[in-house]
Order: sequence, then structure tokens, then C-alpha cells
Amino acid sequence: MLALENVSASYGYGKVIEGISLRVNAGEICAILGANGAGKTSILRAIMGFLPSVTGSITGPDGVRIDGLPTHQIARAGVGYVPEGRGILYSLTVRDNLLVGAMREGRAASLDARMESVLRKFPILRERLDQDAGLLSGGQQQMLAIARALISAPRVLLLDEPSLGLAPLIRRDIAETLVTIKRDRGPAVLLVEQDVKVAQRSADFALVLRRGRLIKRLDASGLVDREGLRNAYLGQSA
Ligand SMILES: Nc1ncnc2c1ncn2[C@@H]1O[C@H](COP(=O)(O)OP(=O)(O)O)[C@@H](O)[C@H]1O
Ligand SMILES: [Mg+2]
Repeated sequence: MLALENVSASYGYGKVIEGISLRVNAGEICAILGANGAGKTSILRAIMGFLPSVTGSITGPDGVRIDGLPTHQIARAGVGYVPEGRGILYSLTVRDNLLVGAMREGRAASLDARMESVLRKFPILRERLDQDAGLLSGGQQQMLAIARALISAPRVLLLDEPSLGLAPLIRRDIAETLVTIKRDRGPAVLLVEQDVKVAQRSADFALVLRRGRLIKRLDASGLVDREGLRNAYLGQSA
């Protein structure tokens, strides 16, 4: 569903990610863990076509090659993106934020059906439909950002640090939401996180990124093995 083969990318000088290969199937969550500056966001930006020079191959839904395509075509191919900092529009209502997400073309189900489907997953948003998004709590804003990506029924979902800046209890809600999305015959999810607990609660496996390279793969049991995790992270700071 999403496959990267030997992907490298730069912002014009020096590679920020190098030799990245990974595969995420539908209904799976793959977490990318790593320190600040490791290149996590850059992997997502490379997939979305935001980086000026990307080499290697990136394959999206239905085996379509998406590397080299303009961003709007990558979105149309079924790739949803929730950027770091959420990217919602604070002065628009919750409903209008969702409608912005829904305007992406090419999805079969009617707008009403898609709206209903995301509101079922996020009841709190239904209660707030006519409120400005800027009045939501941080956790609710993150839910809105995820809902806005889901309303276009993406088959690949890229999430950049959804738990950033949120209290531990709210982080747990986010992790549970991700599990719900997955259970519901969900998209292939690539989840960038620094919070290991969010990854533990939601991911099927995790990849550890260090200075632009994937250095370790942890399966679900490896994710709960504190010793193994500590070693993976110690490796990072070394
Ligand atoms: N727009 C940019 N232009 C040049 N360098 C950048 C840009 N954005 C990030 N970088 C550099 O790329 C590296 C990886 O950054 P990033 O992917 O944001 O890491 P992470 O998300 O893991 O914190 C860092 O060294 C950062 O300084
Ligand atoms: Mg980042």
C-alpha cells in the first residue's frame, strides 16, 4: 500500500534522509521513532512531493509510483497528510475545516456519507461543528486534523507527531483513536512520533531513524521491551 525503496532526499545540500526502505500494508500502523532532527518529518515531506530532490522509488495505493508527481496528484492518488502543527484553519468552523478536507476529488462515497463516517469516529467534533476550530482544545484540534485527512478516505495516512504538546491522557486518546481507525479496515498509516508510548499503544511495528537512516526495526513485542527500546535510543544519541 505504501512502499519506499532506497529513498534519499535533500533540501538542496547534503542528504537529510538516506537509503530509506519500508513497507506498510492497509490496516497497519508503522511508527517512525527518532530524536529531534533525525529526519522524520523529511520522510513524510519526501512522500508528499515537497522536497526538491528525491531519489529511489515511492509506491502508493494500487501500486502507483508517486515519486516525482506533484503534491496534488499524490493526494489524489489516496495519500492523506496531517502535518506537524496540524495545519487546521483556526478562524474557520469545525464543519468548514472538514469540508476543506472533503473537497479533494475522486472519492466514491457522497460527501454526506463521508462526513457522517468521520463524525461517528469523532463524536466530540459533532458537538462542536459550528464552533471556530481555534476554540478547540489542543487534543480536539489534533482530532480535527486527523478527521480532516480521513474525510477524503485516504488509503495511506501520514501523521507527523500527533501527540506533540498534548497531556499524557490526551496522548492516550490519540493512540486509541489510531487503533480505532486501523480496526475499521483503515488506511496504511505511517506515524512519526517521539512519544514511545503512543507508538507502543498503536503501532504494529516501529522503525528507528538516526541521522536520516533507519537503524532498527522493532516488532510489537520489541516495542514493549524497554531494554530493547533504550538500546535503540541510546544508539541514537551515540
Ligand atoms: N526546510 C529545510 N531546509 C533545510 N534543512 C531542513 C529543512 N527542514 C529540515 N531541515 C533539516 O533536515 C534535518 C531533518 O529535519 P526533520 O526532518 O525536520 O527532522 P525531525 O522531524 O526528525 O525532527 C535537520 O537537520 C533539519 O535541520
Ligand atoms: Mg519533525
